[in-house]
Amino acid sequence: SDKFPELVRDSRFGSVTPEHVARFRDITGDVDAAVISAGTNTAQELDVYNEDWMRKYKGRTTLVLRPKTTQEVSAILRYCNEHTLAVVPQGGNTGLVGGSVPVHDEIVISTVRMNAVRSLDEVSGILTAEAGCVLEVLDLHLRERGFCMPLDLGAKGSCNIGGNVASNAGGLRLLRYGSLHGTVLSMEVVLADGTIMELGKPLRKDNTGYDLKQLFIGSEGTLGMITAVSILTPPKSSAVNVAMLGVKSFAEVQEAFRRARLELGEILSAFEFFDRTCMDLVKRHLPIREPLETKSPFYVLIETSGSNKDHDDEKLATFLERLLEEEVVQDGALASDTAQAHAMWNVRESITEACSKEGGNFKYDLSVPVPQLYAIVDAMRARLADLGLLRSDSAPTAPVTNVVGFGHIGDGNLHLNLTTTGWTRELNDAIEPFVYELVQARNGSISAEHGLGLMKAPYLEYSKSPEAIELMRRVKAAFDPKGILNPYKYFPRQ
Ligand code: FAD
Ligand code: MLT
Ligand code: ZN
Repeated sequence: SDKFPELVRDSRFGSVTPEHVARFRDITGDVDAAVISAGTNTAQELDVYNEDWMRKYKGRTTLVLRPKTTQEVSAILRYCNEHTLAVVPQGGNTGLVGGSVPVHDEIVISTVRMNAVRSLDEVSGILTAEAGCVLEVLDLHLRERGFCMPLDLGAKGSCNIGGNVASNAGGLRLLRYGSLHGTVLSMEVVLADGTIMELGKPLRKDNTGYDLKQLFIGSEGTLGMITAVSILTPPKSSAVNVAMLGVKSFAEVQEAFRRARLELGEILSAFEFFDRTCMDLVKRHLPIREPLETKSPFYVLIETSGSNKDHDDEKLATFLERLLEEEVVQDGALASDTAQAHAMWNVRESITEACSKEGGNFKYDLSVPVPQLYAIVDAMRARLADLGLLRSDSAPTAPVTNVVGFGHIGDGNLHLNLTTTGWTRELNDAIEPFVYELVQARNGSISAEHGLGLMKAPYLEYSKSPEAIELMRRVKAAFDPKGILNPYKYFPRQ
């Protein structure tokens, strides 16, 4: 595309022909839902799979396959491998780094029709589900049975569990339940040559050799298709409380976090922060009312999840009172019912959408030691102001309209977002690799949770040594010797 002129199509890959499409129809059964192709469907129907959630990346595939079974995935991949046809695995297509859409004409293999829950062990809480199950659907399924998903994110209504695992999504409750590297117990995958494999068993403990499933967690479709996942799910909490705090400085955000860990201890289930500009953007673009009366430079959302309502209510109320008394926070409110709790979460979860509605959106998800986290936002603002690119009274037409910071403080994960009047090479070069240099200088990671995809592939060296990248390439070659799985992404170009 125009944005990525350097990405030349790899001539080793074949192009889709009518014969190929006919063969795929044989594999999937000739159902309309299984094959979406340029010959039969409209450009708009293909756009859904060609274009990413942010509308920043757009490929031009002419073929989307939506298999129903692992056997169909296997037959599709075996055929693609034999004919050197490149593919992109796709789940809910909510990824934020351009990883889930084709770059050129790669075939999209979507998991959306593989959406059966295979089993739930109601003693251990181990759930086995097909890759295309929607996260929120799984969560509801579990809640009816006394459990819940160990991960939660704003895209829950459309992202698929396979996509979550492939991108190693973090989300809003990682602080409490840990990362997918801990909760995913086993998975079923299909390798590039069509081999179906069980990686591990749905057991909590298994020390028999290399833990190969770990390689697939965060592999972003480069090693194989994940077709099913077994995941350890916690009991759902009977008492959930939410509070919002308004604080004057980032130092106080940190102090509130330190105190929350000490004083709320085992019931703390989320500690999120966002700055004033996020609140303004959310209010501008969505029908949302500000939960607090005082305007503050920073906001914190705290959630507790426990099993004793009276005990938890009292604990959180006392915590908030103390912080107000000691002036660690300048304003705060406890949600008094589920509707208010939802309203508070809604502010936090709507930031992504509000940023995207503001215009062009440069999005970074960085891991940085907590004390230095907001310094990244300040440094970015200062640089853009120096270059005359940040909008202000003295630069009323500058292209960067907002620089905002929010994220998962509890995990040391900053979301730095820039809203802009559009995408230009000049703007891009003013931001990258500067932002990655800031992170590297603080021994951070250029991706805390969204992954590399197309966006961060060129910058991997800011987080990984040349030796580690070389070893990653050898792993990739062992799983996918012809390189048909999600090409052009994940690795720096050679
Ligand atoms: P897709 O976007 O379809 O794919 C993501 C990657 O995984 C691609 O590289 C794709 O090729 C690969 N892939 C997909 N399915 C498979 C499969 N079955 N086998 C192999 N590879 C596969 N992320 C966070 O970490 N934390 C958040 O809090 C968070 N919040 C979000 C909020 C919003 C509003 C949005 C839009 C996104 C958010 N994200 C967040 C991004 C996040 O990565 C995704 O939402 C989600 O994990 C991706 O799932 P998906 O099914 O949409 O995958
Ligand atoms: C979030 O925490 O809201 C997500 O990671 C999405 C985003 O960064 O926009
Ligand atoms: Zn996030």
